[in-house]
Amino acid sequence: MKYYDKLIFELSQEGRSGFSLPVNRYPAAPEVPAGLKRQSALKLPQVSEPDVVRHYTNLSQMNFGVDTGFYPLGSCTMKYNPKINEEIAAMPGFGGLHPLMEDALVPGARKVYEEMNKALAAITGMYTFTFDPCAGAHGELTGLMIMRQYHLNRGDLARTKVIVPDSAHGTNPASAAVAGLEVVEVKSLENGRIDVEALKPLLDNTVAGIMMTNPNTLGLFETQIEEIAALVHGVGGLLYYDGANMNPLMGVVRPGDMGFDIMHLNLHKTFSTPHGGGGPGSGPVGVAKHLEGCIPAIKVSGFHGNFGVILRAYAYILSLGKEHLQKVGQFSVLGANYIKECLKDKYKLPIEGVCKHEFVFDGLINDGAHDDVPGATTLDVAKRLLDYGFHAPTIYFPLLFHQALMIEPTETESKETLDAFIEVMRKIADEAAQDPNILHEAPHNTPISRPDETTAARNPILKFQDTL
Ligand SMILES: Cc1ncc(COP(=O)(O)O)c(C=O)c1O
Repeated sequence: MKYYDKLIFELSQEGRSGFSLPVNRYPAAPEVPAGLKRQSALKLPQVSEPDVVRHYTNLSQMNFGVDTGFYPLGSCTMKYNPKINEEIAAMPGFGGLHPLMEDALVPGARKVYEEMNKALAAITGMYTFTFDPCAGAHGELTGLMIMRQYHLNRGDLARTKVIVPDSAHGTNPASAAVAGLEVVEVKSLENGRIDVEALKPLLDNTVAGIMMTNPNTLGLFETQIEEIAALVHGVGGLLYYDGANMNPLMGVVRPGDMGFDIMHLNLHKTFSTPHGGGGPGSGPVGVAKHLEGCIPAIKVSGFHGNFGVILRAYAYILSLGKEHLQKVGQFSVLGANYIKECLKDKYKLPIEGVCKHEFVFDGLINDGAHDDVPGATTLDVAKRLLDYGFHAPTIYFPLLFHQALMIEPTETESKETLDAFIEVMRKIADEAAQDPNILHEAPHNTPISRPDETTAARNPILKFQDTL
């Protein structure tokens, strides 16, 4: 352990101090009522300023983030977050706005919403958007409420079911259940696409709609999407599009043109805002023209969604422009296919063919299993990657494969970065074949190795005092 890996409480020395406050230039505040006063001093560590700075700087370096390394997490990828958009969102004219300000005082903010509505409609082929939802799953719930409202407006009360493919993102069935709809699963074929023949018998006048991601969670484009749209519309249902991962489609094809009626986008993934850690998000919901009237009935957040996230997305779209937005789609597909093709002789590729922005391996081809030593698993590969300075891909999702390893390189990564990742993945595969124990014990170089994740989640130790 390095000296500064010590907790700050362990460095504390009675009487040591790390601050010097300027002389108070303000009138004395009114006396705090005795009953509200602290009875004893706070037990803060007594340390010098350099100790505090080193403590927090060292802590920050124990984390992995997009600003420290390549992050090939599939589905919930951390994407490119241009720093200039952070500066724009922090500009006082934007950052200082209050949601209750009169319309006349905020023409700039109103313009951002109007322009964003036009831009997203052009990118997706939807008619109009609501910006109220504050996350992708929140958008899904809003979209399903719009779907229900549409059927209710027509007096069609029997539509209680939503069809969700088995490859769907986990939030899809969860949102449908929260919206009070019954989830009916449709199976995928061996090629990873929806089994249209299995879909047909599920369709009747109780179906409110189908929720789909295209490309789906395996990164595969649903080639029969037009037929699926015709079938669902044929029985009076609607098509919901999970557009959380819009990258591969941007400027190439539009959900509206594929027949989708409702969709959400994750502005905090595809359009600039850092994603992850439960930070502010934005999941605007777009609808086709015939559903426009269903939006006003739905109010899902206090004000107008997360303006700062919408603003970053606006800056992102304007700075790329039409031509470069199209490249986002092309590069995200190129990067994923490049990695897949360079690794498929070492990792099992269950579904061959061109993928979109992400793809799934089903573990190692040669996991190094001997009579007495178990083979290296997907978890072992993920842990070993940390030793080489790479974040792990998404593991054990989607559930369709036992050893799923889902890889998505962001479109903005250079070929050199992709090559470095490929080299390390190949090296790990060779290590597994020769001595899987290296992988079983990984990571070897991180501040902690393999925490007991279940105990850590159930009994988190959040205070220094709890460690005593
Ligand atoms: C395909 C897909 N749908 C929905 C979501 C849910 O989005 P959020 O985490 O903002 O609720 C995600 C997560 O990023 C996703 O990848």
